Amino acid sequence: MAQFSWTDDLYTGSSLMDGDHRKLVDFVNAFFQSMQGGRDKGSVSKAMNDLIACTGEHFMREEAEMERIQYVAAIAHKAEHTKLQKQLVELKEMLDAGGRMNVPAVADFLSGWLRDHILTTDMKFAATLKQQSSSAPATPLH
Ligand SMILES: [Fe+2]
Repeated sequence: MAQFSWTDDLYTGSSLMDGDHRKLVDFVNAFFQSMQGGRDKGSVSKAMNDLIACTGEHFMREEAEMERIQYVAAIAHKAEHTKLQKQLVELKEMLDAGGRMNVPAVADFLSGWLRDHILTTDMKFAATLKQQSSSAPATPLH
């Protein structure tokens, strides 16, 4: 079974994002593990719920940061989040309804999505965050 291996190229330089991403990888791996072996339905369902919850909380934190700095690419970035959340919920509904999952395909999809999203979309946001914080005035203007 695939495991998502953290590699240092995934560090964005934003401690908020990096901490969340490390946690997210743990939940993705817990989900992969739940699908191994006997694939007990209850543990797969719990791991799926945990993954959906952790993903949702992380996306909310990132999106709050986008609002805070009025990030210019927020709409496209949020759309990627929304699409993944929808896909996770659909997957959960399919599993809850007793459907069979193509485990290697799901594992590949999730690992690929996370790596691509961090390396492209999140990296751009992190660079903007860094730029904004370094150009912020040292003292408040009012
Ligand atoms: Fe993101």
